Amino acid sequence: MAEITKKWYKEMSVYQIWTRSFCDSNGDGIGDLPGVYSKLDYIKSLGVDGIWFSPIYPSPNCDYGYDISDYKNINPEFGTLDDFKKILDAAHGLGMRVFMDLVVNHTSTEHMWFKEACKSKDNPYHDYYIWRKGRGNKPPNNWLSVFEGGAWEYNKNLDEYYLHVFAKGQPDLNMDNPKVREEVKSIMRFWLDMGVDGFREDVITFISKAEGLPNGFPLPLATGIEHYKHGPHLEEYLDEFRQVLNEYDCFAVGEGPMTGLKDAVNYCTEGPGQKLDMLISFDHMNADCFMADWVKLPFSLRRLKSTFDKWQTEMYGKGWNSLYIENHDHARIIERYGSIKFRVQSGKMLATMYMLQCGTPFIYQGQEIGMTNVRVDHVTEYKDVMTFNNYRLFKKLGFTEKMFLNLSFKVNRENARTPVQWTGGKNAGFTTADEAWFKINPNYTEINVEAAEKDENSLLNYYRKLIKFRKEHEVAVYGDFKQYYRSSGSLFVYERNYEGKKLLVINSFSENPVKFDAPAGIDLSAGELVLQNYEVLNPGKNSFMTKPYETRVYLFS
Ligand code: NOJ
Repeated sequence: MAEITKKWYKEMSVYQIWTRSFCDSNGDGIGDLPGVYSKLDYIKSLGVDGIWFSPIYPSPNCDYGYDISDYKNINPEFGTLDDFKKILDAAHGLGMRVFMDLVVNHTSTEHMWFKEACKSKDNPYHDYYIWRKGRGNKPPNNWLSVFEGGAWEYNKNLDEYYLHVFAKGQPDLNMDNPKVREEVKSIMRFWLDMGVDGFREDVITFISKAEGLPNGFPLPLATGIEHYKHGPHLEEYLDEFRQVLNEYDCFAVGEGPMTGLKDAVNYCTEGPGQKLDMLISFDHMNADCFMADWVKLPFSLRRLKSTFDKWQTEMYGKGWNSLYIENHDHARIIERYGSIKFRVQSGKMLATMYMLQCGTPFIYQGQEIGMTNVRVDHVTEYKDVMTFNNYRLFKKLGFTEKMFLNLSFKVNRENARTPVQWTGGKNAGFTTADEAWFKINPNYTEINVEAAEKDENSLLNYYRKLIKFRKEHEVAVYGDFKQYYRSSGSLFVYERNYEGKKLLVINSFSENPVKFDAPAGIDLSAGELVLQNYEVLNPGKNSFMTKPYETRVYLFS
C-alpha cells in the first residue's frame, strides 16, 4: 500500500470567504473585514481549521478583486491592513490559519507597474507585461480572452498591444522577466512574514506562455489556451516560488483550469521537486456541462464518479487532493448535482460525498446553509464581466434576454456571489444599508443562518458534525479510496481504509428508492452508523431501499 505522510494541511477543513458578499459592518452595502471579524466565532463554530480569503487587495473591481492594483495592501472598501492583522491574530488565537489568494498571472491596469509600463517602451516596467506589435492592423495573434473578446488591447501611444488572457483590465505579467518573479517572491514574503499561512494561487498554471505566442486552435473563447495552460517554463517558475514557501511553515494550493490529472500528480508529488501541495482541479465540476459551466449538459453521476475515482486513486500516496463542490466561480451545487425539492437532504448527501474523500475539503460561504441560485429580471442586474461577455456570445447564437437569463440562472457563477443570508430580517442581516451591492436571494426569509442554528437537523448542523467527524477520525483523512457500484447511475458508494479502520460511505443521487445491498464481505451490523440524513431504524440491515438523496456513513473499527 502506498505510503502516506501526515501533514497539518491534510487534516484541515478550510472555509472560503468572498468578502464583498460575506458581512457588511459599516452599512455601505458591501461586505468588509470588520464584518468578517464579527463572524469569526461563527466560522470557528463550524469546526474548520482555516480561512481562505478570495482577493482582498486594492482593486478597481473589473473582476472583483482578481484585478489587483496593490499587492501589499487591503482594499479600502473592505478596511485596512490593521483590520486584516486583527483578523489574522484573532483567527490564530482561535486555532485557525489564514490563506491569501495570490493572483500573479495578471495585475490590474491600475497597478503602478502597468501605468509605468504604458509610459514608454524604455520604461523599466514595460517588460513586466507581454507587449507585441500587431500584424498590420490586426492583433499579434488570434488568441481570445476568457472574459472579453480578443486577448490583445492596443495602446496607441506605444503602437503595441498588451496581452490579457482575462479581462482588458487584467494585463498578463511577463513571468519570463526575472524581475517580475522577484516581485512575486517579495509579495509572498510580505504576507508570510506578517503571519499568513499560505496561498491559493490563482490560475497559476497559466503563468508561462509558449515561445513566439503562436496562433491557437479557434474556440468561442480562450483561443490559444493550449499555449499557456502548461507553458514551457511553468515548472521552473513554480520551483522558484516553492523555495520561498519552503522557508515557512505554510502551504500552497494552485488553481489549475484545464490541468489534467497527470500534470496535477506531477506538480503535487511529495519530495524533492514538489511544486504545489494541492491543485484545484475543475474535472469534477464538469459532470453537468461540457468543458465550461455555460455549455450545459444533463448531470451524469457516472461521469462524476469516474472523475473522482481517477483523482482519488492516482493521487493517493503521491500527492494530495483539494476537495470542493462550490466556490465563487460556480453556481450553487444543490442546483447542479442535488435537488431543490430535497434541498437539505441532498445538501447533506453532497457534503458527505465530497468531504469524506481523501483530500483537504474547502467549504464556500453559504454552502453550509444550502444557499441556492438567484433569478434576476434583467441582465443589467448582473455585475460580472464574464456574464456580459457570455451574453454577447449567446446573443450571437440567437438567444433572447429571457433565454439567456434562464440559462444563467442555472450556470452563472454570480449565483454564488449573492450576499450571505444571516437572518430572516431586513437584507438578510447582511447589511443595514437600504440596498446590498448585489441582489439578495429572496429566499433568505427561509434559508438563513439564524434559522439553521435553531434547527438541530439543519444542513448547517450536519456540516458541523461532518467536519468534526473527519477531524476526529484519521481514516477519514488518510484512508485510501475504493469504489463500489461503479456502473450505478444512482448510487455513489465508496470505502476508505486506514490502519485497520474502514469507512463505508453510501450516497444516493436519486429521489426515487434505490436498492442497496452491502458489498460482498461487508456486514453493516458489524459497523457503527456514524452519519446519516434520515432516521434509520435498523442500521445493521445489509439490504435496504434508499430514501431521497440518502447518505449513510458506517465506521468499522
Ligand atoms: C480564477 C478565479 O477564481 C476567478 O474568479 C477569476 O475571475 C480568474 N481566475 C481570473 O483571475
